Amino acid sequence: MNKEMKATLLKAAVEGSKNAHCPYSKYRVGAAVLTKTGKIYQGGNIENVSYGATVCAERVAIWKAVSEGEKEFEAIAVIGPGTSEGYPCAQCRQVMVEFGLDWLVVSGDQDGNYLGDMTVRELVPFPFTPSALLG
Ligand code: THU
Repeated sequence: MNKEMKATLLKAAVEGSKNAHCPYSKYRVGAAVLTKTGKIYQGGNIENVSYGATVCAERVAIWKAVSEGEKEFEAIAVIGPGTSEGYPCAQCRQVMVEFGLDWLVVSGDQDGNYLGDMTVRELVPFPFTPSALLG
């Protein structure tokens, strides 16, 4: 994936973070997923007063895509607050694994500046994949 596309996806993740609902942690996260059909779905983390009902930005973006019939992904950009590299939590990694191992996770800072990237396979070296149940 070229630099321009990564920048576009990071910008969409920043946009997604603007609608985050994070009054408890105040930790604003944004994500944007690029489908193989070229569509981008973005989202922010959505917290709940019953903390366990909180959903991370990555899953909001992925579920928006899946609910629109998109299950093949090229990449997901994730941005967190500040300038430190944010990596997806383990639950979100597992949700990514559901849709393949060879797609890209692009990490950025709160302004959408590129910080690095790696594949889902690299993030989850010993994955539990759908083939465990589907053969
Ligand atoms: N969060 C995400 O949105 N993505 C991650 O990968 C890590 C954590 C959210 C969940 C919660 O709303 C806040 O960050 C603090 O954990």
